Amino acid sequence: MAGQTEIITQEQLEIQREYSEKVLAYWTEQGRVPSVYADTYGCQQNEADSERMLGMLREMGYVRQEEAEGADLVLINTCSVREHAEQRVFGNVGALTHTKRRHPEQKIFLTGCMAGEDRVVARLKKSYPYVSAVFTSHAQWRLPELVWKALTENSRQFVTPETGNIAEGLPVERLGSLKGWVSVMYGCNNFCTYCIVPHVRGRERSRQPEDVIREVRDMIAAGYKDITLLGQNVNSYGKDLGLHVDFADLLSELSALEGDFLLRFMTSHPKDASGKLFDAMAASPKIAKHLHLPFQAGNNRVLRAMNRGYTAEKYLSLVEQAREAMPELVLTSDVIVGFPGETEAEFEDTLRLVETVGFDALFTFIYSPRAGTPAAEMPDPFSRQEKQVWFDRLLEAQNRISQERHSAYVGKTFRVLIDGTEGDSLTARTDGGRLVRLEGPASYVGSFRNVTVTGSTTWSLTGRLEEA
Ligand code: SAH
Ligand code: SF4
Ligand code: F3S
Repeated sequence: MAGQTEIITQEQLEIQREYSEKVLAYWTEQGRVPSVYADTYGCQQNEADSERMLGMLREMGYVRQEEAEGADLVLINTCSVREHAEQRVFGNVGALTHTKRRHPEQKIFLTGCMAGEDRVVARLKKSYPYVSAVFTSHAQWRLPELVWKALTENSRQFVTPETGNIAEGLPVERLGSLKGWVSVMYGCNNFCTYCIVPHVRGRERSRQPEDVIREVRDMIAAGYKDITLLGQNVNSYGKDLGLHVDFADLLSELSALEGDFLLRFMTSHPKDASGKLFDAMAASPKIAKHLHLPFQAGNNRVLRAMNRGYTAEKYLSLVEQAREAMPELVLTSDVIVGFPGETEAEFEDTLRLVETVGFDALFTFIYSPRAGTPAAEMPDPFSRQEKQVWFDRLLEAQNRISQERHSAYVGKTFRVLIDGTEGDSLTARTDGGRLVRLEGPASYVGSFRNVTVTGSTTWSLTGRLEEA
């Protein structure tokens, strides 16, 4: 869908920089350092967006604090993927009335995916009058203007554009010092029938490869060791650019950068994952041998009703192909139980697929109807209780499989990033993100080391450093 993306111009960004300076001057005149509390829900895409907004706020003079109480600005970055996520946000926004009452000058901003739903915006307008600004992820680059107007005008602001855009060159306040995110694209074109993401995040927009490369190079220079490339469907990266650069090409280019680092990425859609991607992963020691490849359902009728664009057989052959290219591959996935009309026999196809593949980890969800999506209009004859029983069966199967795969790590040696300390121990993560605890000097934090796994529990591994 070329031509849809609006690139935010230098002039537009300059206007925001002017607002930013005015906000900074406002607080300087008051002789105060303003504070911001950021509350982020949902996926890594939201984490990355929050870090960008915190970067902009840092330039406006704001310092972060860890609680809402007394913060000059409360920034809530929301998720609407399931009903439960929304309820949590509404609950927490409701609870802010107390701190707002004690600090009437406090500004409360709500952004992210919920701001893309008309129903939610209407509810916020009507029942949450103390929320000063509501804006979608498309409008986050205008944060300085929103802050300025909240401080100087009394009216509430609602900015909910639906068109996609890309703003480059915004400051970022990264919350980690070794691990960081880089969005390579925004939005989604897939319209899986259960999913709200394309409705609230807009169409796919890829960043120019040179912008991504520059950001990753800067992160490596700043000492980042574990870099995750983000997109709802990274495998369709570049299709909208018309540049003949696909995700595998981008990954190969990034992995050729100088330095000691590890690249990860998510999420991959099975419909667009290719042998070329697996070969690119296999070819570079700087790319984690981890694939998060959501399958969602194991039955072909259900997959069709979900509009996923592949069959269970296609998924299984893709897994085979990936494992052939990378025998040590860590495979994780997402699955939905109880899609409207899914029968017990169809659910059992999901169970069978899980047993056949043997995922290292599985993120399991009970279907949650999202207003405005086609699936929400489909007949849904099975009760929540019935779905819960299936869900529990799936969880039990996966727990056993995870445990088996976990104990198969014992005796093997991995190259891992030592990422922190815990009491007297060091902590590290394997390529697939499993926690390893080991003994060693704290000075090793931030370096890659070879570690032999000596034991496993349900949630973590223990290991021993190999001097190499
Ligand atoms: N873009 C990613 C997923 C984003 S949402 C992808 O396509 O893989 C993360 C996961 O939430 C999805 O993989 C799906 O398993 C789950 N999910 C999305 N909508 C849902 C809904 N309405 N009910 C339950 N789970 C849902
Ligand atoms: Fe949602 Fe499907 Fe897009 Fe993932 S690929 S974000 S599940 S519509
Ligand atoms: Fe949630 Fe939006 Fe991510 S709906 S999962 S925060 S893209």
